Amino acid sequence: LSHTFSLSLTLSYSLSSASCTLQVGNSQYYNYTLSVNGKEQKHGDSYESDYLTDLITNRSLHFLEDRSPQHPFFLMLSPPAPHSPWTAAPQYQKEFSDVKAPRDGSFDKLGKDKHWLLRQPVNPMPESSLNYLDSAYRKRWQTLLSVDDMVELLVKKLDSMKELDNTYIFYTSDNGYHTGQFSLPIDKRQLYEFDIRVPLMVRGPGIKPNQMLQAPVLNIDLAPTILDISGTNLSSVNVDGQSFLSQMAPSLRNGTTRPFFLVEYTGEGHPTSDPSCPKLGPGLSECFPDCVCEDAFNNTYACVRTLNGQNNLQYCEFADSESFVEVYNLTSDPHQLENIVKKVDPAVLQAMNQRLIKLQSCQGASCRDNK
Ligand SMILES: *[C@@H]1O[C@H](CO)[C@@H](O)[C@H](O)[C@H]1NC(C)=O
Ligand SMILES: *[C@@H]1O[C@H](CO)[C@@H](O)[C@H](O)[C@H]1NC(C)=O
Ligand SMILES: *[C@@H]1O[C@H](CO)[C@@H](O)[C@H](O)[C@H]1NC(C)=O
Ligand SMILES: *[C@@H]1O[C@H](CO)[C@@H](O)[C@H](O)[C@H]1NC(C)=O
Ligand SMILES: *[C@@H]1O[C@H](CO)[C@@H](O)[C@H](O)[C@H]1NC(C)=O
Ligand SMILES: *[C@@H]1O[C@H](CO)[C@@H](O)[C@H](O)[C@H]1NC(C)=O
Repeated sequence: LSHTFSLSLTLSYSLSSASCTLQVGNSQYYNYTLSVNGKEQKHGDSYESDYLTDLITNRSLHFLEDRSPQHPFFLMLSPPAPHSPWTAAPQYQKEFSDVKAPRDGSFDKLGKDKHWLLRQPVNPMPESSLNYLDSAYRKRWQTLLSVDDMVELLVKKLDSMKELDNTYIFYTSDNGYHTGQFSLPIDKRQLYEFDIRVPLMVRGPGIKPNQMLQAPVLNIDLAPTILDISGTNLSSVNVDGQSFLSQMAPSLRNGTTRPFFLVEYTGEGHPTSDPSCPKLGPGLSECFPDCVCEDAFNNTYACVRTLNGQNNLQYCEFADSESFVEVYNLTSDPHQLENIVKKVDPAVLQAMNQRLIKLQSCQGASCRDNK
């Protein structure tokens, strides 16, 4: 499965697992505090005993060894990688030394027909921004080598326990990322494909290998999909998402795909100006490197994304002083280079606006009414 979009925050609950470990604070590799079944556990910065990605791997392997074999299990692993501060394991810190962020698509193209924030970056990007984003790109890959180790060890463990063919494995992320697209150095808060799409790979009973599905699947679908696999009657579950088990494993379930969906974001900003960028006023945030801001209070938007056999469109409305609208035809313009709001048939705009209003106020089953 490859076409997924990240719309909600990280899915952070677990089914009936016997133990629960939560990290207090955000994305640290060392010097973090864990909540282990409600008890605080502080960690230092020794690679052998504290590197968080490895620690999660080790505890997961123990969880599998200690589990009761008669009962099904649910395990959710949320490593800090590849989030900043991109602290790679010592043995991986020299990897990918020749790798640079790709220079294709919208890389270093100024978004001159886009919303206010996208018209601000320096273009072309200065050397210092390029160096910064290339280094971030490499370090992200380096941190993911420990995630590769995690996947390998877990798959081998399941295989040795004879549970591999009887287990669903989901591999995904909670947000996309950009490195230089539209001259924005690094971040994840824009409405474009590079920020809203996430990888999703699934293996398990009933899923044929090497297939790629085009219909969109959302983060909000993970919970109902997992419940569906567990045999839960979904009509008794009140969620906005829908199970995609029928898409992955048609021999097990019947179901329909969704032709369009909602994308929304509420921009964040600081009420005072950033002292390191005195020329910029208040209301902005994430202004680095080179005082290019990645977010603002008025980077607040809601979009409808259509993806089916006939249409591949995006329609977005901003809550800013310009009530800015962006529209993309991804069939002819996969990199979203041209905002076609002034060219497109007004009837299309009106239909998309009506859909947006419905999707923004839907709840439960009404979110799955795809008319
Ligand atoms: C962890 O905290 C200690 C004590 O404050 C500090 O000396 C060390 O540099 C920190 N290590 C990392 C990797 O941040
Ligand atoms: C994880 O387990 C391996 C193998 O036993 C060990 O070498 C490593 O130090 C452990 N790492 C952590 C962070 O617990
Ligand atoms: C699922 O739940 C709904 C609503 O409670 C009920 O009408 C339906 O019969 C249930 N289906 C099965 C297969 O149990
Ligand atoms: C799907 O629906 C068809 C027609 O109603 C039915 O024959 C088939 O058994 C269903 N398949 C599954 C996996 O539920
Ligand atoms: C967005 O917010 C910034 C910072 O407050 C402001 O300078 C700018 O004019 C606003 N733009 C729009 C289109 O609302
Ligand atoms: C999008 O582009 C395709 C391919 O050029 C075209 O067939 C289609 O009519 C366009 N859709 C809209 C709404 O402009």
